[in-house]
Amino acid sequence: MPQMSAKNVQIFDTTLRDGEQVPGCKLNTEQKLVIAERLDQLGVDIMEAGFPISSPGDFTSVEEISKIVKNASVCALSRSVEKDIKIAAEALKYAKRPRIHTGIGTSEQHIKHKFNSTKEKIIERGVSAVKYAKSFVEDVEFYAEDAGRTDNEYLARVCEAVIKAGATVLNMPDTTGYCLPEEYGAKIKYLMENVKGIENVIISCHCHNDLGLATANSISGVLNGARQIECTINGIGERAGNTALEEVVMIMRQHPSLDLSTNINPKLLFDTSRMVSESMGIYVQPNKAIVGVNAFAHSSGIHQDGVIKNRKTYEIIDPDEVGASESAIILTARSGRAALAYRANKIGYNLSKNELDHVYKVFLSFADEKKEIVDEDIHEIIKKSVHIA
Ligand code: KIV
Ligand code: ZN
Repeated sequence: MPQMSAKNVQIFDTTLRDGEQVPGCKLNTEQKLVIAERLDQLGVDIMEAGFPISSPGDFTSVEEISKIVKNASVCALSRSVEKDIKIAAEALKYAKRPRIHTGIGTSEQHIKHKFNSTKEKIIERGVSAVKYAKSFVEDVEFYAEDAGRTDNEYLARVCEAVIKAGATVLNMPDTTGYCLPEEYGAKIKYLMENVKGIENVIISCHCHNDLGLATANSISGVLNGARQIECTINGIGERAGNTALEEVVMIMRQHPSLDLSTNINPKLLFDTSRMVSESMGIYVQPNKAIVGVNAFAHSSGIHQDGVIKNRKTYEIIDPDEVGASESAIILTARSGRAALAYRANKIGYNLSKNELDHVYKVFLSFADEKKEIVDEDIHEIIKKSVHIA
């Protein structure tokens, strides 16, 4: 459990923006409203509802979400382009706590090849965008796209300039998922130590998972002073995805020594994961941390024996804590007598040691033929065992 004194990390959910960029996952406004309501109940601090300039449908979704969200700040994405920012502000007009998210690429790659521009001109564009966004809303988040590959000294100059222009949150995306955790953490530390005015704003981590490091990088970021993590349910998002919300939240809960906490209600994690998966038609990989079907399933005999004696022998999280059903004991040819007796007991058989020996022999012959033994098989195995006993 997080300690009362723990430093709060804001959870910025971008399931409905970066998450929805997954090919084939387009949601309509009604589906987005259902998810937005759930994210609000889950306790996200900020919800990125969309990119209003990108399409009329996205504009309507951001507008409708703004009307129904009660607790979270509602955020809209824009480029450092006046028209984008104006449309984002219009879409947010009903939000209780509106936030405009604007920014520009800051790496050499982006400056040269995307914008054919210079470092100075990029700073000017970022500053103008923040000032313009500030004329509509108080809360303006600036993203330095591809911050992961941006030289730290230049990044610090960008940050200082946009803070002066009024940015309240500075987002440092590892857009290409390239950074190593130490490197990303060092980048945040550098900004914390070298940017004038940094103590008045929040640094945000926005990590992509191209090398499977999004979660590790986000945690490294908050350990070095960032106080916001941008993430999605089930880690969905562009290419290999974004940081998984359920993972960073549970890491902070499981490690009180980190002294970090969030406002998320973990009991809703499992259900929210299912809801997003069904709505988007993207299935969750079985071994996905926290929310995969196998996250609390045990199939080897040694592990099953341990879990039946005491769940904590092989589980660090109580499934109930994340709203999952109880730990599952899966019967396969790798299972032992303890697991078979446990599962048989669950469906009404209290087997003596002698009976269990007979039943176990029949069980093994079944299990060699089938991938998994289900309750119906157990009934049949026990019936068959009585004949040979
Ligand atoms: O990955 C990224 O850089 C982004 C920004 C637009 C915030 O999604
Ligand atoms: Zn992104």
